Amino acid sequence: MPDKNLLKVLLVEDNDADAHFIGKALSHKKFEVVRLADGQAALDYLLNSEEEIGVVLIDYKLPFVDGLEVIKESRKKGKNYPFIFLTVDSNIDTAVEAMKAGALDFLPKIKGYTGLSDMIEKVHRIHRAIIDKSILEKQLQSRQKMDTLVTLTRCIVHDFNNILTVMEGNISLLLLNDSNFTEQQLDFLKNIDRACGHAVDLAKQLRKINRDLPSEKINIDFYEIAHEVFSLLENTTDKIIEKKLEIESGEFIINANPSEINQILLNLGINAIKAIEERGTRPGDYIKVSAENYIQKNSDRMGLQNGEYVHILFEDNGKGMTEEVKRKAFDPYFTTRTQGEKEGQGLGLTIVNKIVREHKGYIYIESEAGKKTTFHIFFPKRNPKKKQKLKKT
Ligand SMILES: Nc1ncnc2c1ncn2[C@@H]1O[C@H](COP(=O)(O)OP(=O)(O)OP(=O)(O)O)[C@@H](O)[C@H]1O
Ligand SMILES: [Mg+2]
Repeated sequence: MPDKNLLKVLLVEDNDADAHFIGKALSHKKFEVVRLADGQAALDYLLNSEEEIGVVLIDYKLPFVDGLEVIKESRKKGKNYPFIFLTVDSNIDTAVEAMKAGALDFLPKIKGYTGLSDMIEKVHRIHRAIIDKSILEKQLQSRQKMDTLVTLTRCIVHDFNNILTVMEGNISLLLLNDSNFTEQQLDFLKNIDRACGHAVDLAKQLRKINRDLPSEKINIDFYEIAHEVFSLLENTTDKIIEKKLEIESGEFIINANPSEINQILLNLGINAIKAIEERGTRPGDYIKVSAENYIQKNSDRMGLQNGEYVHILFEDNGKGMTEEVKRKAFDPYFTTRTQGEKEGQGLGLTIVNKIVREHKGYIYIESEAGKKTTFHIFFPKRNPKKKQKLKKT
């Protein structure tokens, strides 16, 4: 078993005598030295290794592929290892070339190896600093994307509200004269009215997201919201696609904001239907919601606080996601729907993710390209205190 406290040094050196002296200079307990004796073996190792390598010490002249080529090739393939380049003599030109190709330092063998241990530690530190900086830059970029999103929603919400006011007003006027309508038409109107109500709530939520205020959460029966969304999807999308709701009324009570849960399910539902339609609808297609109880005992990779959760599974047998799409799916503005009218904004899952996090929950995607996709969402279960408070009012 490799010791994680040791700094792993990959030594690529064909000359046994040099390898012996370098090994001796590094016989210090801090290092774990792995030796390879030719350039091709080094390249294979570097391109395929998943392990963290502290520093790569690489000779210039090597069988099959020389050291300079190994540095260039691994860089080209996106693998940025911390290389120290070993030169046979003090010919500075090859060393300069190696540094240009991405090596972090070089050592003419003629100088001996007494300072090698310090050099390795220094190069390792520089490499870590470069990685940390690039992580910070990525975090900053995603923060900036989020800030743009906030500004954008602020503008949209304003106009969205005006439109909704007109819609709500007109529906209320129609409902005032309900004797003009058949029962079915009245049902349709009430559906529109309810959807308008959700849209008004949504606008409020968006305003809150902009101001970063927490949304109000109550104990709700997850079935009721899922049932409402599934009925809406059933009435508005191809009936060949079966809408399977595999939970019972009263079975899962979560502490959440109803409009936001509606928003999550609607986004996932629409995405799922599109994923089926994009690969071509056929008999046997389905979207499915199921759930199970989940107890978080010790913090794990999901970072959930200890407690009781409802684990919701939203599945479809549509086109699935590639690894790349899965990785980027929650990024603001990421979309694969780039064609004409059906063009996506790439905001649906960003909002879903934001709502889940705001509920102190967790979401992840499991998907097989060409086969199916399952969104796993963890929501805190009912809050006993909240229930008492609600009963009193
Ligand atoms: N169920 C799914 N199956 C396959 N791919 C999906 C699924 N859900 C989302 N995706 C992929 O994730 C991308 C991002 O989804 P997201 O909902 O954020 O944006 P969108 O649907 O493209 O646009 P919109 O802003 O209109 O929702 C989609 O473009 C699609 O490629
Ligand atoms: Mg979407």
